[in-house]
Amino acid sequence: MSVTSRCPMAEGTVPIIDDDPFSAEVLEDPLPFQERLREAGPVAFLSRYGVYAIGRFAELSDALCAWQDLKSGDGVSIRELDSPKGLLQTDPPLHDAPREVLQEILSARALRGLRETCMARVDTLVDGLLADSSSGDSLAVDGHAQIAAMLPVDFFPDASGVDECARDKFVEFADHNFNTAGPYNDLVKAGERRAPELAAWLYQKCQREELKSEGFGADIWAAADRGDILHENAALLGSSLITAGVDTTIYGISGLLYALATNPEQWEKLKANPSLARVAFDEALRWVSPVQAMFRTAARDFEVGGITIPEGSKVLMCYPAANRDPRRWEDPDKFDLSRDPSGHLAFGMGVHQCVGQHAARLQAACLLEKLLDTVDSIELAGEVGYHHNNVLRGWSSVPLRFTLK
Ligand code: HEM
Repeated sequence: MSVTSRCPMAEGTVPIIDDDPFSAEVLEDPLPFQERLREAGPVAFLSRYGVYAIGRFAELSDALCAWQDLKSGDGVSIRELDSPKGLLQTDPPLHDAPREVLQEILSARALRGLRETCMARVDTLVDGLLADSSSGDSLAVDGHAQIAAMLPVDFFPDASGVDECARDKFVEFADHNFNTAGPYNDLVKAGERRAPELAAWLYQKCQREELKSEGFGADIWAAADRGDILHENAALLGSSLITAGVDTTIYGISGLLYALATNPEQWEKLKANPSLARVAFDEALRWVSPVQAMFRTAARDFEVGGITIPEGSKVLMCYPAANRDPRRWEDPDKFDLSRDPSGHLAFGMGVHQCVGQHAARLQAACLLEKLLDTVDSIELAGEVGYHHNNVLRGWSSVPLRFTLK
């Protein structure tokens, strides 16, 4: 990193970082870059892309709440895109009505009604793995491929009322969609060929006549019938929900299993006190931050941490750096169930804070309940593999050994 006294764009002083946060090296191991960003200053300038970045907890929280100054309406990507704008890419007042509709549909209360369905999915999944186990007292399992990657593609489209179909297409499309928030690199190019076809397929799946009569999709159309949103926006809202909700939850659960396997004393703590399950998921989200970055555009000069970000600049919101900021978290690199992780930024903050967080929490809660019932200990059984995505902390493999009860 070079730290110079003046940025070419900002008035005042701002540290300049030369790293490429979207290089294969950083995507494989993002923590060193995130630490450099956080420790460089409250705001830094990423010379390679000509954008600003915020990686400290206090300043990122302020920035996420300043939606009038740091807009999402020009997109949350580092570059201009011509794809349709979902909830995430709109500002109030346009954002208000669809947000209220989704907030109601995905409220904690509404999700409680799906607990049984979710638990049944988890039972089938885990019992299937247990039945395949060759040795009676332990089970070798890929926590990413065989658990985390299975549950949300089963549960979430089901809860949305999308019929049984090639559900891995959801993951492929969402993977590309998240990649497009980063620069036009090889990851984006690799997904480009299939993207229009997948987008059209998902959009079609979210049309009223294709959806089951019950589920988040039907609820969105009912909101359109009530006049809460426009009919022409209903399918896009449904498809953006699925795009936002599948890969993120998969990687959140992969991270949770990795955290428990590599911190056996925390698993013991959870076994001794199962009511820590919610803390365990939130602490894992703080620790791994499945969403690593989103962008904003400065609608006017914006001052944060004594540094002015000039109007028109793109700004990278670096959630994972803030989630391990020692100014906010004691011993931040430790996955620790005795801390209170609430207030972490893995779900964002402010008007765009994740509207689907209760759906993610429900899946993690059911899975932990099942594991606590059936598994005595969890160990890492090999090297983990990462799946590179420009803005997600993706996993390709989390090899585990469960000792069974
Ligand atoms: C927004 C993370 C699961 C739907 C967000 C944001 C983050 C996030 C960081 C804010 C982005 C920004 O500030 O620009 C996560 C993580 C998840 C998860 C880590 C899983 C562990 C879900 C699920 C759904 C969902 C399951 C759907 C049911 C959405 C939507 C938004 C959003 C629609 C946009 C909200 C708005 O703009 O008002 N999520 N999410 N997410 N998330 Fe999630």
